[in-house]
Amino acid sequence: MLRSKFLTSLLSLLGIIALNLAWMPVPDASAADPNTFNRLMKPPSKRNPPPVDDGIHDPQSPGTQGLQTPKEAFTPLPQGPSGNYVDWVKAFDEKKIQPRFDRDDPKAQPVIMDLTIVREVKGSMPDVIFPHKQHTEWLDCSNCHPAVFVPQKGANQMSMAAIMLGESCGVCHGKVAFPVADCRRCHVQTKGKAKASKVSAKPAAKPAAKKK
Ligand code: HEC
Ligand code: HEC
Ligand code: HEC
Repeated sequence: MLRSKFLTSLLSLLGIIALNLAWMPVPDASAADPNTFNRLMKPPSKRNPPPVDDGIHDPQSPGTQGLQTPKEAFTPLPQGPSGNYVDWVKAFDEKKIQPRFDRDDPKAQPVIMDLTIVREVKGSMPDVIFPHKQHTEWLDCSNCHPAVFVPQKGANQMSMAAIMLGESCGVCHGKVAFPVADCRRCHVQTKGKAKASKVSAKPAAKPAAKKK
């Protein structure tokens, strides 16, 4: 007797929950997509949504409606080819934006380090250039060292697979910096640049005999 009463109340409770669920906003279908965290990989039509639709701000809050939309805010900035279509490095260089280095201290100045690291890439992709300068204009050394990268050239294992999984350069690229789809922005240094003119049009037909 007691048990069936318990069951009925449990069932009605479940009913209430189901009813409530029906009223809850249905999560975006893309929630099933493991890459939703990677907002810069969304199709162009879904990028830069107004604050009410961006899934970050509370759509019920009147304050949200008062916010400037990214499209409006980004219009005066130099355009980029991917991500949110702003070339942030250029915007910084042209002083179109002047981000605070320290949120709490408007006078804090970045420690800019001009050291470029070349990472030779296996395969046919051009080598990767990592410029410290453009990074340290925005970021503190501690954003990368030592948690993401040991500060020693060649000491870190890097691969595209890890980057795609949000590790290594992917800690930022594809999330808060230009996306991984923009291959040629990282892979900039043609291999054996000096020899480039000698390379035949069909390298596959004649494997390079590089040994000496
Ligand atoms: C955005 C990430 C990032 C930031 C920020 C950063 N670094 Fe680095 N740093 C790297 C990477 C990547 C390497 C190369 C590691 C490798 O090749 O395995 C590196 C390498 C180094 C090296 C080794 C150079 C060599 O020739 O062996 C030093 C020293 C270094 N960083 C110091 C700094 C200092 C000082 C700062 C702050 C002013 C800084 N880094 C900020 C990513 C960063
Ligand atoms: C801690 C965050 C962070 C990490 C880690 C990081 N980057 Fe960046 N990177 C940035 C930011 C922020 C910018 C500037 C904003 C933008 O261009 O989207 C940037 C810009 C760049 C640029 C553009 C420079 C230019 O002149 O236009 C290159 C190239 C680049 N990163 C390569 C790399 C490579 C290669 C790695 C890994 C070895 C890496 N980054 C790791 C945050 C990061
Ligand atoms: C944010 C910078 C960045 C972007 C963007 C990027 N790569 Fe890479 N890529 C790297 C780094 C770093 C490595 C590792 C280099 C090494 O071995 O030290 C790498 C390695 C590679 C390799 C060698 C195999 C491996 O996984 O190590 C290939 C092939 C490659 N990338 C292709 C691509 C293609 C195709 C794209 C565009 C879809 C791309 N990369 C975009 C940074 C980048």
